[in-house]
Amino acid sequence: MHKPTRRTLLRSIAAGGGSAAVFRIMDALGMLGPGTANAAALDLPPGSGEGGRVVILGAGVSGLAAALEMSRAGWHCTVLEASGRPGGRNLTARGGDVLTEPGMRQEVCFDREEHLYANLGPARIPYHHGTVLGYCKEFGIELEVFTNDNRAAFFHNRERFGGRPIAARQVLTDMRGYVAELLAKAVDRGALDAELTADDKERVHAMLKSFGGLQDDHSYLGTNRAGYRGAEINAGMAAGEIEDNLDFRELLGADFWKYKLHFSHFLNQNPTLFQPVGGMDAIIRAFTERVGHLVHYECVVEQIRRQGDGVRIVYRRPDGTERAALADYAICTIPAPVLKDIPNDFSPEAQAALASLEFVEAVKVAFQAKRRFWEDDAAIYGGISWTDNDITQIWYPCNGYLRPKGVLVGAYIWGRKPGLRYSAMSAPERLRAALAEGEPLHPGYADEMECGISRAWLNVPFQKGGWPRRNPDAAAVLRRPDGPFHFAGDQVTALPGWQEGSLLAAHAAARAIHHRFTGR
Ligand code: PHE
Repeated sequence: MHKPTRRTLLRSIAAGGGSAAVFRIMDALGMLGPGTANAAALDLPPGSGEGGRVVILGAGVSGLAAALEMSRAGWHCTVLEASGRPGGRNLTARGGDVLTEPGMRQEVCFDREEHLYANLGPARIPYHHGTVLGYCKEFGIELEVFTNDNRAAFFHNRERFGGRPIAARQVLTDMRGYVAELLAKAVDRGALDAELTADDKERVHAMLKSFGGLQDDHSYLGTNRAGYRGAEINAGMAAGEIEDNLDFRELLGADFWKYKLHFSHFLNQNPTLFQPVGGMDAIIRAFTERVGHLVHYECVVEQIRRQGDGVRIVYRRPDGTERAALADYAICTIPAPVLKDIPNDFSPEAQAALASLEFVEAVKVAFQAKRRFWEDDAAIYGGISWTDNDITQIWYPCNGYLRPKGVLVGAYIWGRKPGLRYSAMSAPERLRAALAEGEPLHPGYADEMECGISRAWLNVPFQKGGWPRRNPDAAAVLRRPDGPFHFAGDQVTALPGWQEGSLLAAHAAARAIHHRFTGR
């Protein structure tokens, strides 16, 4: 017999198992390639879950995706959600919404216009998060570009440059220029003669000159890449004066280079990034249109037990009564800081892993401004300004350009100390503090703001944090099934703090359960 070619093999698989089987085999053979936005659906064979029951704990991105994929395959799915809404950390605030934290109630004060909203949880989708993008494609969710990197936005360090905010184009241009100058000088002095041939040296010189904008003598004296002096930034009818280059010692002393300067080089922060038009919760709406009927809201899980080969989940309903859900399997997407405290029959390893996952004390503050002063006064259209004040970042809206009003994110905090400080404040205190800390970047800032809101994820019941700090060992433990229990959510993946992780974890759990159930 002839050895089958891949093509004849795939044809015979298609005849037996349909296109989903072909897709999986091609995937396994590495024939699909990366970066496709087609990888959304898991494609469990239709009917393969008939007679099987699964309880899904949590109606966030992970739980909803598991419910969609498994119900499509015929599984009986019950989703228990402790809060009154779907989405978990995927939360878009709009005028009229109410945000609560214990002892705190905030009414969202934004005007009711489609561009005036704040994504208080996930807000950006990188181009290579194919599972999120695949669902956006399947659901017909309209995307627009999200801007991380804006050369007109500011870097601000209280101790450097007299506390003056510096435009990103200057910081980036001058840092690059000085690094190129240093290396060119080292080469000129023969410090790298052991590494470089004469030919190499010539090319390195040419490269550095172009890379950094160096003079012929390899010194860096600044270039017009950093912009011109004055409000116009650019040359006009006649070129003006190029910005003075920044002092190298000040640049070295500032914290910019630690990560803020190369932030968009991080793989998950690379352009192109996207946001759904009108708010990130478009993803949640699309899921709930399909599987919302499977979700039981305000049902708080109180015990997670084994029963026979399956599970018994004891939960409290909004009317105060206790119920138990029985099923063959449970998918636990509840965030570790909450899950670890629910009485359970997990293995000691799983319990230890859950207890060791620390969540980031993430805080966002968002303001509605009566004037888009960042556009009018500083030519900033989207992107991020960075400061060493606790607010850490100011995000300018990547929508509604040139309109009268806008919503900006006046703080996005992810450090432990500043996160704890802001989490402990009342809502009005957070707004006051965020305005004061943003003032050096935008003089007159507070007067431009009409109203604001905030979210400290650490305080939110059933969340208790933003996303897990990196902990590959704990995540690896939680990727393994624990009897009838499968863990999901971004917390079990190498993509903590990303919806892509939540979706991949949902798919992995659904796939694993499918294999156990069908014996295939
Ligand atoms: N995905 C979130 C963000 O981009 C949270 C996050 C930040 C996750 C940094 C990992 C690293 O802001």
